[in-house]
Amino acid sequence: MSVHKEVKKVTTHVLQEMKLKGEKIAMLTGYDYSMARILDKAGVDIILVGDSASNVMAGHETTLPITLNEMIYHASSVIRAVDRALVVIDLPFGSYQGNSKEALNSSIRIMKESGGHAVKLEGGKEILESVERILTAGIPVMGHLGLTPQSIYKFGTYSVRAKEEDEANRLIEDAKLLEEAGCFSIILEKIPAELAKRVATELKIPVIGIGAGNGCDGQVLVSHDMLGINNEFNPRFLRKYHNLYEEMHGAFKNYIEDVRSGDFPNENEQY
Ligand code: KIV
Repeated sequence: MSVHKEVKKVTTHVLQEMKLKGEKIAMLTGYDYSMARILDKAGVDIILVGDSASNVMAGHETTLPITLNEMIYHASSVIRAVDRALVVIDLPFGSYQGNSKEALNSSIRIMKESGGHAVKLEGGKEILESVERILTAGIPVMGHLGLTPQSIYKFGTYSVRAKEEDEANRLIEDAKLLEEAGCFSIILEKIPAELAKRVATELKIPVIGIGAGNGCDGQVLVSHDMLGINNEFNPRFLRKYHNLYEEMHGAFKNYIEDVRSGDFPNENEQY
């Protein structure tokens, strides 16, 4: 008899069941092995290898510069750490907007080279053909509507989206199209809570929110933001569970002091 307990993996079906049972879905971003190991052990349902890696890992101002190869590198590091969570990987800017064949090829590269479980694309009606084509290869797709950071230069700001009726109606229509096309879930970013709640109620698939209120079927945050590693990003929707910036800064300062004073290493820390 095996002493190892079988881990019940989170699949797209499990997420669908969670929605039906009214169980909220917890999702966070992860970009490297060590963080993903902790996320998975903590029991997070979905790890998103977000293109926010472009900001928090590489220090770019936007998500646009990160490449498909870089996303595959991050995703394969995360996959090696995970036993339970579903790992969703962002298709980066420029890897799917050209046409549906390009979108399919990029998704296949991600799945084959990283071992990931699903891909995420930003947009609605304009990427529908790509979503359908990716799905024909058996690759699960997550949608992303509302604030779509890859279009930052079109919108000009990171402010709340779909506040006006026109844009709200378009978002509802896009959400329904993505569901009909076969997406297993969608993310709604930075839209009014009432609108997100309406979408979550009208859709059968799980709707995960970030800055979209409590009426969604689950929530996602960027791990570095909720841990307070980056102390310069403080939007209203962000709950900080730690002040890691201060803690890490303090630890690094103590180490530097100990090295400079000759206190580290002591007798017990040498051979
Ligand atoms: O890239 C990312 O981290 C995301 C989340 C903000 C949803 O897309």
